[in-house]
Amino acid sequence: MIPLNLIPAEPQHARQWYLWRKDATALRYNPMSEVPLDLLQDRLSQSSSDLSNETFHEYRWIIETEGNLVGTVSLHRVSWPHLHADLGYQIDSAYQGQRLGSCAVNMLIQKTFQESRLNRLMALIHSENEASIKIVQRLGFQHEGTLRSHFQINGQFVNEEVYGLLRHEWQDSSVSD
Ligand SMILES: CC(C)(COP(=O)(O)OP(=O)(O)OC[C@H]1O[C@@H](n2cnc3c(N)ncnc32)[C@H](O)[C@@H]1OP(=O)(O)O)[C@@H](O)C(=O)NCCC(=O)NCCS
Repeated sequence: MIPLNLIPAEPQHARQWYLWRKDATALRYNPMSEVPLDLLQDRLSQSSSDLSNETFHEYRWIIETEGNLVGTVSLHRVSWPHLHADLGYQIDSAYQGQRLGSCAVNMLIQKTFQESRLNRLMALIHSENEASIKIVQRLGFQHEGTLRSHFQINGQFVNEEVYGLLRHEWQDSSVSD
């Protein structure tokens, strides 16, 4: 197991996040428009990492291993009335392919179900983003459908796969591990 830490994302991480958002591996499969650094700083100051505080709609952590910041995980579009959230995750391209993504998403799910009341997690994944699809499948998410031509990336409509995990399914799989 790779020793990873999820550290609370702070406005001081905005520059690193800005650079990750511009990475070709992220832009290939995700509809990310360029957001100025100061707006990312604002977004970080308006998000939280304290899942017991139910007043936020976005929660974010930076993934750290051996003193290096190697990516970010988040919960966004969090609905406290309905107890669901969307997952976001990215690994720095220099560190991809070392199972850091799998470990970090696993840690995010554990943290979410242990520290919050959320009941459902969802990932929307570009149909061709094989690494991302493997991560959620291995962690027990169910394929719930396909959103056809849901986003435009580089002027092309692309399909997004919907994956969902319910709290009781995660508990079932952690019991059988
Ligand atoms: C998706 C992402 C987080 C994966 O991170 P990672 O650390 O490279 O993933 P892992 O090393 O844990 O690999 C996960 C699985 O995908 C496989 N994989 C890794 N890169 C792959 C690739 N380019 N093509 C196909 N499979 C790949 C691994 O072999 C592993 O499979 P396994 O569990 O069967 O062994 C990373 O590629 C990334 O940050 N991409 C850009 C942002 C993004 O797309 N985020 C997801 C939004 S839904």
